[in-house]
Amino acid sequence: MTSQDGGHPGGRLHPLLRRRFSPLAFDPDAAIDGGEVDLLLEAARWSPSAGNAQPWAFVTAVRGGREHSLIAPRLAASSASWARSASLLVVNIAHRYVTDTDVEFSEFADYDLGQAVAHMTFQAEALGFACRQFRAFDLDRLADDLDVSPGWHIRSMTAVGRAVGTAPARDRRPLAELRHPANGEL
Ligand SMILES: Cc1cc2nc3c(=O)[nH]c(=O)nc-3n(C[C@H](O)[C@H](O)[C@H](O)COP(=O)(O)O)c2cc1C
Repeated sequence: MTSQDGGHPGGRLHPLLRRRFSPLAFDPDAAIDGGEVDLLLEAARWSPSAGNAQPWAFVTAVRGGREHSLIAPRLAASSASWARSASLLVVNIAHRYVTDTDVEFSEFADYDLGQAVAHMTFQAEALGFACRQFRAFDLDRLADDLDVSPGWHIRSMTAVGRAVGTAPARDRRPLAELRHPANGEL
């Protein structure tokens, strides 16, 4: 994106990519149903992964549900202000190590989890929801509360809901900077 974009992508980008942004306000009355939550997981399920290891797990917590009551108190002040009103919180967990060892389950565990979350994000977008991924929560205490299995590691959360307001101006490095200098030598 260049400054000519006015901070918003345009042109030939796919509409799902073009309209995505990470909201800082969600409609506190908007709900997500069980079928829609399953569809988000289904999107993650069909994400590619190194060796098809599928090194991911998710805790889905609809607002007002049992899991939500465990997770909400662990939000940092900075994220609680908007994440509490999201329809759904998803805890994103990577299978880093083989159980009870320090042997890597997959050297690509975090990479694969991130890609699965991206798939989930765009499925949410297609359903009319928006997502903000975040790290602003008490990871260690949440891992205890959720009794995360040995070898598994909470990496991030995603707040999913109906965005309130429009996207703010967004900042991106210019397209030309994305090309590694090696490009120039080809
Ligand atoms: C792994 C990850 C962690 C993030 N952590 C936070 C966070 O703790 N708090 C927050 O407000 N936003 C967080 N974000 C959102 C980013 O700030 C946001 O995606 C970025 O500013 C680009 O904006 P956009 O998604 O609207 O394009 C995080 C995003 C990612 C992918």
